[in-house]
Amino acid sequence: MEQISVIGGGTMGNGIAHVFAQNGYKVNLIDIKQEVLDKALATISKNLDRMVAKEKITADQKDQTLANIHTHTSLISGVSNADLVVEAATENVEIKLDLFRQLDKLTPAGCVLASNTSSISITKIGSVTDRPDKVIGMHFMNPVPVMKLVEVIEGFKTDKKVTEEIVELSKKLGKVPALTQDYPGFIANRILMPMINEAIISLHEGVADVTEIDTIMKLGMAHPMGPLQLADFIGLDVCLAILNVLYDGLGNQKYAPSPLLINMVTSGDLGVKSGRGFYDYSHGTKELVVAPNFK
Ligand code: CAA
Repeated sequence: MEQISVIGGGTMGNGIAHVFAQNGYKVNLIDIKQEVLDKALATISKNLDRMVAKEKITADQKDQTLANIHTHTSLISGVSNADLVVEAATENVEIKLDLFRQLDKLTPAGCVLASNTSSISITKIGSVTDRPDKVIGMHFMNPVPVMKLVEVIEGFKTDKKVTEEIVELSKKLGKVPALTQDYPGFIANRILMPMINEAIISLHEGVADVTEIDTIMKLGMAHPMGPLQLADFIGLDVCLAILNVLYDGLGNQKYAPSPLLINMVTSGDLGVKSGRGFYDYSHGTKELVVAPNFK
């Protein structure tokens, strides 16, 4: 696999493009909006600058990485020569199914179609294509250039050879692949989201406040971020969507999303991306300030 197409220039898509390009792969980065692509390239450039400043890569390696990335607003031109497509579009079933129907028609027959979905069924995505054996989950973690894990999700019809190829490719990216089967939330979110949900339920019940909950989990369990800060970082809408997938798919009350989480998402408090979640990000510094509703 040499030619990679990454669909979606958002946080995950630009991180995935960065990692492939830095490891010598030719990357076509595709988004319907040119401004998203411009922002993606600026973000990749900024993250590479940070690595140059820390002497993790040279200035030449930065230039080579950027030269490996080409941007496209047209799906056809961006995927026609792809050996692998990694889809990192919006986490919406209909959008993903529609994309995979198109990718099945537009990519070469041997091209592997991977999704970076955090919880949508790979088997369902594969079922709308004529190549479910070549459809697989390649779930990167945010921030992609930093996090070592790639959760590789084998759909019900995924060919074992394709799984092996993606496992080997993940290693070539300097990542550590871990294989899971295609059941709701896979492993990462099946375990992470109930923890985040329980933190929100505890906050709602008044067991402890925002700072205490995060401090207990950060210092007590050596987590880099507490669960409420992490929920803000992931996006509260994304957390809610994943919990609903777990609740619907596994049919167990223990996955029911906290009513507080539902209210926050409904009112537009989505975490870092909206400027407010459990913490307030409107002050523009790195300092963690608890949001006014939780003071
Ligand atoms: N891109 C590239 N590099 C970045 C970065 C980014 N967006 N953000 C931080 N970094 C780098 C920094 O340059 C720094 O590098 P060095 O170690 O070489 O100095 C390193 O990461 C640490 O960064 P900081 O010192 O600025 O900040 P920090 O120590 O607080 O770490 C963090 C930031 C890496 C995000 C850390 O807080 C962390 O690991 N948080 C938890 C992240 C996590 O759990 N991610 C998974 C979320 S779940 C998911 O993604 C999947 C899903 O389906 C929901």
